[in-house]
Amino acid sequence: MERPLIDIKGVSHAYMTETGPLQVLDGLDISVPTGGFVAVVGPSGCGKSTLTRLIAGLMRPDAGEVWLHGKQVTSPRSTVGMAFQNPVLLEWRSILKNVMLPLEIVPTKLSKREREERAYRLLALVGLEGFEDKRPSELSGGMRQRASLCRALIHQPEVLILDEPFGSLDAFTREDLWQTMQALKAEEPFTGVLITHDLRESIFLANQVVVLSGRPARAQYVMDVPADAQRELDDLYAPQTAERLNILRRQIEVAQGRGRARPEA
Ligand SMILES: Nc1ncnc2c1ncn2[C@@H]1O[C@H](COP(=O)(O)OP(=O)(O)O)[C@@H](O)[C@H]1O
Ligand SMILES: [Mg+2]
Repeated sequence: MERPLIDIKGVSHAYMTETGPLQVLDGLDISVPTGGFVAVVGPSGCGKSTLTRLIAGLMRPDAGEVWLHGKQVTSPRSTVGMAFQNPVLLEWRSILKNVMLPLEIVPTKLSKREREERAYRLLALVGLEGFEDKRPSELSGGMRQRASLCRALIHQPEVLILDEPFGSLDAFTREDLWQTMQALKAEEPFTGVLITHDLRESIFLANQVVVLSGRPARAQYVMDVPADAQRELDDLYAPQTAERLNILRRQIEVAQGRGRARPEA
């Protein structure tokens, strides 16, 4: 059997704090096949961002293993692209130059011209054609997040990690960005992990949703979303979606220590 591209096995992690160790993850298992897109949802503070740092190799777990493409992750990996809730764009650089930044850090075989062409193409794909020479402050929040997605993908990472990337956007802008994400996924093959607290977003974008328990977190519940399920915004208002959302919402309540797990009838 082919090993999943991202394989998180029995990962536990604690932070040292003034009042002693804070156990954040405890025996967490998640695996994402090549080309898969997994959404991770869970209570605030349960360890979702910690998980992204472990996948990116920015931290090592106390126990358990993180594997990317058959190699155990022990240091930061350039084959990972990341985007966060607040895109950190450099104000003194144009949008184009911001998007191209990772290519100055990660070795690439692309010529200067090819690099620029790639940046232009990605920016056009997310609807930012004509904004290449603007400064970050000249763009709206949604547009900055679009640019940040391009920057996360510019070096053709195998893995894209998104940590609540749309969390600070208004509802309509967010839905636009979901569609942009789909367009990007169709054009740029990547294997994704999306941290979100928006259950609609999770089932719209991902083919699997993992609900983390409260801290210390493990995988409490896993929902597979069929490929033909919610792929149009309209589908998000269909009865089938309501059912999936309900199941997830109940699981979140369990993770928060409210509510009880009920059989999904
Ligand atoms: N560097 C750190 N040192 C100590 N505690 C931390 C550190 N980073 C995060 N934490 C704590 O660990 C827990 C999980 O954090 P985090 O992974 O950011 O959660 P989430 O992203 O799910 O909200 C939180 O209680 C947070 O306060
Ligand atoms: Mg977080």
